[in-house]
Amino acid sequence: MAEVTGMTSEFCESVAVVTVKAGDGVNAMTAAWTVPVSQRPALIVVHIAPQRYSHNLIMEAKEFGLSILADDQMEVSQHAGTLSGRDVDKFESGVLKQKAPKVTSTPVLEGCAATMECKLEKAIAMGDHTIFVGRVVALEKDSSKRPLVLHRGTYYRLTESVGKYY
Ligand SMILES: Cc1cc2nc3c(=O)[nH]c(=O)nc-3n(C[C@H](O)[C@H](O)[C@H](O)COP(=O)(O)O)c2cc1C
Repeated sequence: MAEVTGMTSEFCESVAVVTVKAGDGVNAMTAAWTVPVSQRPALIVVHIAPQRYSHNLIMEAKEFGLSILADDQMEVSQHAGTLSGRDVDKFESGVLKQKAPKVTSTPVLEGCAATMECKLEKAIAMGDHTIFVGRVVALEKDSSKRPLVLHRGTYYRLTESVGKYY
C-alpha cells in the first residue's frame, strides 16, 4: 500500500503557543496540533515532535502552558514557530509577552483568546510526534477575542457565522 502524506493540512486548526520552563527562563513554541480530549477531568493534548527543544523540557518540567492565539497574533505564531529556544531567547525581542500563571509556575502569553495552565498527565510516543496529555488546572478566556485559524498552511480570521451548534 502506498504511504499517504499531506493529510495534516486538510484539518482546520487553531494555533496555540506552548510555554515551558527552561532553566531560569521560559521557552515558547507554536503548536497547531492541539485538541481537547475530556471535559471531566479537563484534559487536552498537544503533539510535539521529539526534535523540538520544548519536547524534553516538558518531560522534565511536568507542566506547561497553552495559549490559544487571537487573530491579531500571527506574528507571535511565526516567531515562536520558526525559531528554536536552543538558539535564541524568544522573549527577548518583545514579540511574545509573558502573563503570570495562577496555579502552576509556568507563565502563559498575554493578548490571547484563551490560556490554560496544564499539568502533564502522560506522554505517549506516537509516530513522529509525542502526544502530551495535559490536565487543565487553570483557564482564562477573553471573549472579546477570536482565535487565529490555520488551514492548508494559511492563517485566517473567523469573520462570518453560518449557523449555531448550541
Ligand atoms: C503554525 C505552526 C504550527 C506548528 N505546529 C506544531 C505542532 O503542532 N507540533 C510540533 O512539534 N511543531 C509545530 N510547529 C513547529 C515548532 O513550533 C517549531 O519547530 C519551533 O521552532 C520549535 O521550537 P523549540 O525548538 O524552541 O521548541 C509549528 C510551527 C508553526 C509555525
